[in-house]
Amino acid sequence: MMDQDDHKRSGSKLKGREIILGVTGGIAAYKAVELLREMVKRGANVHVVMTKNAMKFVTPLTFQTLSGHPVLYEMFRLLEGSRIGHVAMSDRAELMVIAPATANILGKIANGIADDLLTTMVMAMDVPVLFAPSMNVKMWHSPVVQHNVAKLKSYGYHFVEPAEGDLACGSMGRGRLAEIPEIVEKIEDIFTPKDLKGRRILVTAGPTLEAIDPVRYITNPSTGKMGYSVAKMARRRGAEVLLISGPTDLTLPRRDIPIIRVKTAREMYEAVMDHFEDYDVIIKTAAVADFRPKDSSRSKIKKISRNGFSLELESNPDILAELGRRKGSRILVGFAAETDQLLENAQEKLRQKNLDIIVANDVTQPGAGFGTDTNIVKIIDQSGRVRGLPLMSKDIVADIILNEILKLLKKREDQSPWPEDWD
Ligand code: PMT
Repeated sequence: MMDQDDHKRSGSKLKGREIILGVTGGIAAYKAVELLREMVKRGANVHVVMTKNAMKFVTPLTFQTLSGHPVLYEMFRLLEGSRIGHVAMSDRAELMVIAPATANILGKIANGIADDLLTTMVMAMDVPVLFAPSMNVKMWHSPVVQHNVAKLKSYGYHFVEPAEGDLACGSMGRGRLAEIPEIVEKIEDIFTPKDLKGRRILVTAGPTLEAIDPVRYITNPSTGKMGYSVAKMARRRGAEVLLISGPTDLTLPRRDIPIIRVKTAREMYEAVMDHFEDYDVIIKTAAVADFRPKDSSRSKIKKISRNGFSLELESNPDILAELGRRKGSRILVGFAAETDQLLENAQEKLRQKNLDIIVANDVTQPGAGFGTDTNIVKIIDQSGRVRGLPLMSKDIVADIILNEILKLLKKREDQSPWPEDWD
């Protein structure tokens, strides 16, 4: 079951938050509708403020319907009693996000111009303000815009930088509004306490592929979702994260997690061994193939016989077991995907591989294990303590595993006879 701290840390940090969404006049204004929906879905109470130009792209009615509140755009409309609208709204808000933010709005705010409701509200904000710019690639790279962005950052404003790709004006390059999951992730990040700051965490994710020939391989159904959730939540909480990933279709909604992409178990072994010494915690979520074909054919194997075909397999290196031998004072966390005798098998792996924690999932249960957005796990530590969790999202599972790791890190530090800066 979740303890008090887990309840505070788990789920979306947007739940119950008062957020103002500022929409300015760019072609990406329609994407702000999706952003609004996502914030509302996560439990935020969102009020929308539009510039006059934004209303040429999307009508206020759309935002009003989806937010459940009248859209604000008039400067001198009174809200509560005799209080000026923008002051009343700014006082209540816990965050303002401006998406899309045009070059014009960035320029105005960077230079102290408050000539409409949206710009005036930004000036009146003493809570975080997040800009998600969107504009033509040449505008984005212009020294004027870059100067304004740097100036706004120096004042403490937050940014989700535009993405690269096709732009509405027909050109290619950086300027597209960041993807909505990336903007939402940044908002979650702003609301998340950085209790893992200063910690370095290496995460492995996904399956490995072991080639039989150029068109066939041995693999498993891992999608990488569990490992990507661990990496994302650790980074959100302030850790420095390195992700070593087998082949997946996933995109991480963060650009600040370096990824090393591998295919085979041996490549994953090399990547992990090259880097683990720089990390305090290693979390091995990856589903590594235990065996590979002894001889991988360079050309496609022909269907020579109708009576079947046998394949000789040899063992892959056990990355986790090797880490268990070399880990020193690092915290080592393994996963166990089991179909029977969940606890016994997981406990055996914990002992054999010298782990600090093992996370066991019974992959036969609906909603658990491979491919799902949810998981059902038992977290087992070296003392034999077992913490069973009900069905929950992989993000929340990741958060709770990180809570357990943090407790262990703190316990070890409390027991350490040396001060941290001892050398
Ligand atoms: O990626 P998803 O679709 O979200 O699915 C998530 C998951 C089911 C893959 C994940 O929750 C999970 O259980 N991962 C571990 C799967 C697995 O390989 O279990 P295992 O019992 O075979 O291995 C035990 C541990 O040893 C694992 O931490 C594994 O990374 C590690 N191992 C295994 C073999 C090997 N040669 N080297 C290893 O390091």
